[in-house]
Amino acid sequence: MTEYKKYLDEAVKIAKTAGKTIKEAFENRQFISEHLEIKENNSSDLVTATDQYVEKMVKSHLNKVFPTHSFIGEETTAANNMARCELTDNPTWCIDPIDGTTNFVHGLPFTCISIGLLINKEPVMGVIFNPILNDLYTATKNGGAFLNGKPLPLIRPIQPLETLEKSLIITEYGANRNEESVKAKLDTIHQIIKYPVHGIRSFGSAAMNMCYVARGSCDIYYEIGIHAWDVAAATCILKEAGGVVVGWKPYKEVSEPEKKKQKTESSKTEKIDIVNEKFDVLNRHVLCIRQLAEGPEKQNEILAEVRKRLIDCEIERD
Ligand code: IPD
Repeated sequence: MTEYKKYLDEAVKIAKTAGKTIKEAFENRQFISEHLEIKENNSSDLVTATDQYVEKMVKSHLNKVFPTHSFIGEETTAANNMARCELTDNPTWCIDPIDGTTNFVHGLPFTCISIGLLINKEPVMGVIFNPILNDLYTATKNGGAFLNGKPLPLIRPIQPLETLEKSLIITEYGANRNEESVKAKLDTIHQIIKYPVHGIRSFGSAAMNMCYVARGSCDIYYEIGIHAWDVAAATCILKEAGGVVVGWKPYKEVSEPEKKKQKTESSKTEKIDIVNEKFDVLNRHVLCIRQLAEGPEKQNEILAEVRKRLIDCEIERD
């Protein structure tokens, strides 16, 4: 039993309770359409009454059980005009009540609740529950990762990945549809698809995407624009499944003046210990790879190949 087990048990309990609410609402189409809102005049950024209700419920439960812990949640942040998230070394719960809200609204079953716990800014526990498919992903630092109790990766034996060319990649278009952002995302897809790779997929939930990489069903996932609550739990799950989760450039502590805006020179190839880089959950960029039969050197080599093709654009930190 790891030291994080008590947090895991609590998170599983609350994820299952929330899952009932999410599933009932998912099955009641009329309820969703009557309670649908958009965020900040962006019709591609949806929020439902269920997101808000579930986040309140999870937050008040965690506050009661762990009163000294901090909390970052998607809807709490949105209600606060997307104010900058404060992440300290204190144990911090990082929650997305419904990741894959657009899927939830449309009745596509790739949607889940994501509950992560960070200590010293590092994700040490993750629970992701898709109540429609009844898939419960769990992990604790040094305690392994599981889907419904089965160890991840699910695809065994662990498959090799000789080159980027043989990979199945996941990415997303995200909610930011301004000209610069859309161009950068499409140009990146162009760079990668023409490489060529086996394929590119978009499942519509960052947390689910990372779980499919943790399962071993997809090889790589990258995205710009994700938030801490989309990736906190999944980072622990994927790392515990032998994967690597990093940003688009090597991690460094961000100084105050840099915090406002940041641009990545992702076209430069740095030499390179990508697999041992720290991941900054507030940075809005994610790049990950599954466990490979060949081990960390190959993960490193392939991540470097992907990084060469990622085209960045300006984005505010969480
Ligand atoms: C979004 C989903 C989507 C990803 C966005 C996320 P939400 O989260 O994970 O796949 O492209 O970056 O913000 O809004 O459904 O919680």
